[in-house]
Amino acid sequence: MNTEKRKALIVGATGLVGNELLHILLQSNIYGNVKALVRKPISIKHPKLTQRLVDFDTLEKYEEEFAVHDVFCCLGTTIKKAGSQEAFKKVDFEYPLKVAKLAKKKGAKQFLIISAMGANSQSRIFYNRVKGIIEEALKQVQLPSLHIFRPSLLLGKRNEFRLGERFAEMVSPIFLPLLIGNLRKYKPIQAKDVAQAMYQIAKQNCKGEFVYESSQILNNSKEI
Ligand SMILES: NC(=O)c1ccc[n+]([C@@H]2O[C@H](COP(=O)([O-])OP(=O)(O)OC[C@H]3O[C@@H](n4cnc5c(N)ncnc54)[C@H](OP(=O)(O)O)[C@@H]3O)[C@@H](O)[C@H]2O)c1
Repeated sequence: MNTEKRKALIVGATGLVGNELLHILLQSNIYGNVKALVRKPISIKHPKLTQRLVDFDTLEKYEEEFAVHDVFCCLGTTIKKAGSQEAFKKVDFEYPLKVAKLAKKKGAKQFLIISAMGANSQSRIFYNRVKGIIEEALKQVQLPSLHIFRPSLLLGKRNEFRLGERFAEMVSPIFLPLLIGNLRKYKPIQAKDVAQAMYQIAKQNCKGEFVYESSQILNNSKEI
């Protein structure tokens, strides 16, 4: 049995899901080293954590950092926060694709990324279209193992105000009990459940391409 501890790389570790995932990876005994590529420093100190301040526009300069077993991509923004559709696309399409290509180049075994419910390259909704386009582009990279997570609306504590998320939290007690059967996938999901599912799936170390809808993410978020 191979008992060597794995190395992980995470981008988006300062985000809602990324931060939850970072804590899980640091506590895990299957990872001996966790690298976080960030644009501003993280305050966490941990013996397993190496953080590297990078400019995502010149990510190629840091390609040696990608020589790890598992790469987790939790990058993302909103059009409002990014300032334009173009700037949004940079974060949700260009950067993840660059990350995936560098992971492939440096021999990473698994690539795990958060997309979104409704991802569809043909969608008339810009956000869903970009998510669909990145999913298709990632499949072309031909990574040994590609895991795409499509959560519904994320819940969790943010420092910023996001109207949709706040509204969902308020109406959840009324509507959640109605979301059963096929509607279950529309249930908002806790960011920590998404992070836990990413970890549980990574642990299984399966080869191939996988897409997880929100209800499957929830099913996979339990410790096994
Ligand atoms: N919010 C939802 O309800 C929802 C639903 C479904 C899917 N998703 C998707 O889930 C993923 C994770 O969402 P989240 O809410 O956890 O994200 P988040 O809290 O907004 O965090 C996004 C991460 O991306 C990084 N980032 C943003 N712009 C960047 C830039 N220009 N350069 C480098 N890094 C940048 C942030 O770094 P900084 O801290 O440096 O800004 C942060 O680490 C996203 O892809 C999102 O589209 C979200």
